[in-house]
Amino acid sequence: MGLTDPGQRTSADDHARRVRDMFARISPRYDLLNHLLSANVDKRWRRRVVRKIEPLLAMNAQVLDVGCGTGDLSIELFEKTAARVVGLDFCRPMLELAKQKASQLPFIEGDGLHLPFAESTFDALTAGFVVRNLASVEDGLREFRRVLKPQGRLVILEFSQPSVLGVRQFVRFYYSRLLPAIGAWFSGSRSAYEYLPNSIGKFPNQETLAGMMRAAGFVEVEFENLSGGIAALHLGRRG
Ligand SMILES: C[S@@+](CC[C@H](N)C(=O)[O-])C[C@H]1O[C@@H](n2cnc3c(N)ncnc32)[C@H](O)[C@@H]1O
Repeated sequence: MGLTDPGQRTSADDHARRVRDMFARISPRYDLLNHLLSANVDKRWRRRVVRKIEPLLAMNAQVLDVGCGTGDLSIELFEKTAARVVGLDFCRPMLELAKQKASQLPFIEGDGLHLPFAESTFDALTAGFVVRNLASVEDGLREFRRVLKPQGRLVILEFSQPSVLGVRQFVRFYYSRLLPAIGAWFSGSRSAYEYLPNSIGKFPNQETLAGMMRAAGFVEVEFENLSGGIAALHLGRRG
């Protein structure tokens, strides 16, 4: 979906508002639930992103972490690389938590679909569990490309489609039964934890997302399944 048409723009704005309100609601319990619901595997996935990108970053490379939320991926990037990291999110309560964790990092408020940066600003851009939440994945990818320098790297970490049958069945049961119940219990917002599996179900699978990245102007696009494809890491270079 493009955002040029005024009608589409309104629905994109509504979508953004709903997503922002939802993350604001669950922000106090976001970290706890992330680690609990994934049995801490989410930390391993973020570490994998950093290990993948670290060798590609020169000293003092500029990295933008879009949808940084409470800052875990930004902080991992800051601690494990020699890059200068900026975190950006459009949900203030999530950002406040990020700032409490790492006051030395710049965490700024902004929309991933309308990034407040000039063209060709960053050497790399990361997006951890964000792209699925955008009103338009295509518009997001184009915007990410715009702020990347030529040859700049994009890394997307996102829930995906499990490639192994047993894992797929387990995940379906987990998403439909356990996750909304546990999420509701701890966060007080059942709808937020019903949104999660719904948004994962609608999100393009690994091959489709890779194709969308190529269509948006990324080259050398590759992906790596994490935990049997429960999540996937997509890497591309601005062509
Ligand atoms: C599931 S959280 C992920 C946070 C963090 N990256 C992590 O790995 O835990 C998604 C975050 O993306 C943010 N987000 C969603 N859509 C956004 C947009 N259009 N612009 C900026 N942030 C957005 C939400 O506010 C939320 O903090």
